[in-house]
Amino acid sequence: MARGVDDTLAWMNELTAEMEERRKAVHKGGGEARQHKQREAGKMTARERIHALLDAGSFVELSVFAEHLGAQLMAGVAAPGEGVVTGYGTVSGRTVFVFSQDFTVLGGSLGKMHAQKIAQVMDLAVKTGAPIVGLNDSAGARIQEGVDALSGYGEVFYRNAVYSGVVPQISAILGPCAGGAVYSPALTDFVLMSRGTSYMFITGPEVIRSVTKESVSFEELGGADVHSRKSGVAHFEADDDMGVIATIRELLSYLPQSAKEKPPFKGTDDPETRETPELLSIVHPDQRRPYPMLEVIRAVVDDRKFLEVQPDFAKNILCGFARLGGQAVGIVANNPRHMAGTLNIDASDKAARFIRTCDCYNLPVVTFVDVTGFLPGVAQEHAGIIRHGAKMLYAYAEATVPKITLIVRKSYGGAYLAMNSRDMGADIVLAWPTAAVAVMGAEGAANIIYRREIQSSPHPEATRAAKIAEYKARFDNPYWAAGRGYIDDVIDPKDTRRHLIRHLRMLAHKEEKRPFKKHGNIPL
Ligand code: HXC
Repeated sequence: MARGVDDTLAWMNELTAEMEERRKAVHKGGGEARQHKQREAGKMTARERIHALLDAGSFVELSVFAEHLGAQLMAGVAAPGEGVVTGYGTVSGRTVFVFSQDFTVLGGSLGKMHAQKIAQVMDLAVKTGAPIVGLNDSAGARIQEGVDALSGYGEVFYRNAVYSGVVPQISAILGPCAGGAVYSPALTDFVLMSRGTSYMFITGPEVIRSVTKESVSFEELGGADVHSRKSGVAHFEADDDMGVIATIRELLSYLPQSAKEKPPFKGTDDPETRETPELLSIVHPDQRRPYPMLEVIRAVVDDRKFLEVQPDFAKNILCGFARLGGQAVGIVANNPRHMAGTLNIDASDKAARFIRTCDCYNLPVVTFVDVTGFLPGVAQEHAGIIRHGAKMLYAYAEATVPKITLIVRKSYGGAYLAMNSRDMGADIVLAWPTAAVAVMGAEGAANIIYRREIQSSPHPEATRAAKIAEYKARFDNPYWAAGRGYIDDVIDPKDTRRHLIRHLRMLAHKEEKRPFKKHGNIPL
């Protein structure tokens, strides 16, 4: 029998009320007690994190009522939202897809539907050309689901790899990330960790104790400090969830929505022609005197703003994002304050990865050079400095974005090439009057090429000094290299900003075609 209008309305009200009840249940996640525990631990809830990340009121949730697949061991177990909140919203007005694991639901463990929710937003991010941000807080594979959970990880890892370089992928680690939970972040472009509340490890302290008899705490094994300083797994760390989320927002401001776009332009009141006379007192003309390269970078870029990537890992090289005349750029610079700025294995890995990230997302690379060479030593040779150093050579040569090199002071040997010399593909090479380009430093060079003359001289020390001076006069300046076309111009340090901005503008529409290949074979 047909219902009347009033009946229909009542019926609809019942249905919408039920819908709201179901939605509320999903929003409660694992319930108040577990949420309380989460906050007690100094962590935000999954939904609070999303709201902090996205512009106010912009979040749209997807797959709201997803349920677990009902594995035998999951009978009678509720998993509201399947332990992960997914959807999209905006950051500074630009669309971003997001997933946020809910530790209050089965420890944020990853089951098959949980993985499918993540896969859905990853697919949408790629179809629409927008970044994907993962807020990770998970105990790893959901043990009750067995191989289905492993399959879930497979779905996510596969997409992480296939979508690499298509849209920016950013992973925040905001709780324990154990087992499989670490490999998805490791496959993404950036990993950020919160200090004291996040851990990443393949096998935890318990397993390690039983297998290797080593005793180690969660923090010592895989805390934010370990991954920011020792392993190089993390690119950024912050004091808490809010700190990590603020860094994600800042990071996104330098990145395009996808590889098809250029990074967003951000106007500045910092004049293009601003002189930087302070550089004359920061950089010492004596090649052996260290100075803070970070200050050189800050002096030159818009508003002194430099977002350093991996600031505490391989400190002998600096990598990070800045703007020059409003154009976002990636900056790579030797740091004479640490290991005399030499290149070692970690520095090569760090820089190569950063250069490739810039190239993926159309950020020009500006390189500040002050380097004596690759770090000598048996340990470095045996650990594969050849293989790792080759990554830098490869990454610079492979990159087709605009590339500008500024030789600040010394640039010797293989490191001269590894720091993007003209022949490795630099579009523009500039030098300060303090620059020196040579195969090696004057002392070492004189000892080798004038050895006989020095040994047979009645005054060996005087002859050595004379030969060193002779070598310095010829090579310890930028003009020998400039005379042979390896340097476009020698510039006054105080005009650096103006020169860089002008060249970047000239290069804005650069196109460089490469021969067909399936993909390159970077040494790993
Ligand atoms: C399902 C899990 C779970 C898991 C924890 N829980 N881990 N449920 N699958 N993997 C549940 C707990 O039963 C508990 O439920 C809730 O999550 C919170 O866990 P607690 O142990 O109470 O939390 P805490 O003391 O903070 O410890 C967090 C933890 C610990 C350190 C992460 O839970 C832990 O060690 N879990 C196991 C980690 C692990 O081994 N994962 C599998 C890795 S193997 P209640 O109902 O009490 O709230 C893997 C293979 C994938 O990932 C490989 C792919 C390549």
